[in-house]
Amino acid sequence: MAREDIVVGLDIGTSKTACIIGDIGKGSLEEIEIIGVGVAPSDGLRKGIVINIERTTSSIRKAIEEAELMAGVEIGSAYIGIAGGHVMGHNVNGVVAVSGKDHVVTPEDVNRVINAAKTVAIPPEREVLHILPQMFTVDDMTGIRNPVGITGVRLEVSVHIVTGAVSSAQNLVRCVHLAGLSVEDIVLEPLASAEAVLTPDEFEAGTALIDIGSGTTDLVIYRNGALMHTASLAVGGWNITNDLATVLHLTLPEAETIKREHGCALVELVDPAETISVQGRGTQRTRMIHRTHVAEIVQPRMMEIFELVRQEIEKSHQMINGLVLTGGTALLEGIEELGAAMFEMPVRVGYPRPLRGLSDRVHSPVHATGVGLLLYGTRDRWSGKGTSRFIKGNVFENILQRMRSWFASVREDFF
Ligand SMILES: Nc1ncnc2c1ncn2[C@@H]1O[C@H](COP(=O)(O)OP(=O)(O)OP(=O)(O)O)[C@@H](O)[C@H]1O
Ligand SMILES: [Mg+2]
Repeated sequence: MAREDIVVGLDIGTSKTACIIGDIGKGSLEEIEIIGVGVAPSDGLRKGIVINIERTTSSIRKAIEEAELMAGVEIGSAYIGIAGGHVMGHNVNGVVAVSGKDHVVTPEDVNRVINAAKTVAIPPEREVLHILPQMFTVDDMTGIRNPVGITGVRLEVSVHIVTGAVSSAQNLVRCVHLAGLSVEDIVLEPLASAEAVLTPDEFEAGTALIDIGSGTTDLVIYRNGALMHTASLAVGGWNITNDLATVLHLTLPEAETIKREHGCALVELVDPAETISVQGRGTQRTRMIHRTHVAEIVQPRMMEIFELVRQEIEKSHQMINGLVLTGGTALLEGIEELGAAMFEMPVRVGYPRPLRGLSDRVHSPVHATGVGLLLYGTRDRWSGKGTSRFIKGNVFENILQRMRSWFASVREDFF
C-alpha cells in the first residue's frame, strides 16, 4: 500500500481519543477502506481544550498504537479536530473589480475576492482555521456558487471565517507531535462531523448539526451547501453524568453506567413501574429506584442544552428545517423525541456514513468526528494540496502557507 493512500483522522475528545486509518487508494469517497481503528480514554482535556499535555499525549499514543496494530501499517501524519469555547465563526464580505479586458471572472479573481474578505482584522492571538465561501455575487446576479466564467465588472463574496485561539491549537499540535505524528491540518470538529453524517439534501436545506460530546456541544448550520454559523457550548454529556452522580449519590463511573444503560431524555417515555438497582457511593449495598427518577434528572439537563442550542440558532438568524444530533450523547434514549418536541421540526440522530473495511467499528455517533476527519482529509489530499501543508515545528511558521492554500480550499462540490 502506497504511503499517499493512507489518511488518518485523529479525534482528540474530552472523553476519548479515536484514531481512524483509511486506505483511499480506490479513488472514490465511497470506496475508502477503514483499515485500523484505535480508541483510548482521554483525560487530559477539559471542555474540549487540552489542560494536561502529558495525559493527552499518552491517550493519543495509545489510540495510534491500537490503530496501527490493527492496520499493520505505521502512520506518520493525521488530520486532527479542534473545538471548544475559543472557536468563533464570523460572516464577512469581500468585493473586487473583475480584472481582465473581457470581464470574465477567472480563478485568480476568486482568490482575490476571498483574500479581500479575509482582510477583516484577526487578533494575533487567534488563528484562522477555515475560510469557507458561502456565495458569490457578480454584478446583480446573487446566489452563485462558482463565478468562474461569468461576465461582470464587480465580484462579491460572502465567507464564513472560523478562528480559534492560537494557544489551544498549539497545545493540540504539540501533543500530536509528542505522540510521534505530524499534523496535516486542523479541522473544526463539528465541520468534520457534518462531513460524516449529513446527507447532500441536509447541506442544502438549512440544517443544524449538533455534536453533543462529553465536554462540549458544538453546532454548525448549513444552508445552500455552505457553512453559515459556528458555535461551541461548554456543556455536554459529562454534565448529565455529574448531575446523576450528585443527586443519586453515585461515583462518576457508576453514574456513567446508569446513564448509558438506563438514562432517558424524556420522562414520559419511561414506564412508571420500571425500577433499576443502583449502588451507593462507596458502599456495596444496592438499592432500587424508579427509572423515571433517572429520567427526571437527565431531562432538565438535556432541555438546558437544547435551550442553549435554540438560542444559538436564533442568534444566527438562519432558517433551519431540521436538526441532526451526533456525538456520544446522541445515543441517549429519547433524545430525538425530546428534540422534536422542543424544536417542533424533524430531528434525527446522525451516524457516520458507511465506508468499506472496518466501517462497522465506527458506526456510532461517537465516531462522527473521527470519520469526518478521515473524509475531510481524503478530499484535501485529492484536491492536491494535502501533504504540502504539514504542520511540523511551530504552528506559526505554517500559517502563511496554510492561508495561501485556503483560498482554494472550498468544498469542490460547492463549485
Ligand atoms: N449510550 C449512551 N447514552 C448516553 N450517553 C452516552 C452513551 N454513550 C456515550 N455517551 C456519552 O457520550 C459522551 C462522549 O461522547 P463523544 O465521544 O462524542 O465525546 P468526546 O468527543 O470525547 O468529547 P468532546 O467532543 O466534548 O470533546 C460521554 O459524555 C458519554 O457519557
Ligand atoms: Mg467530540
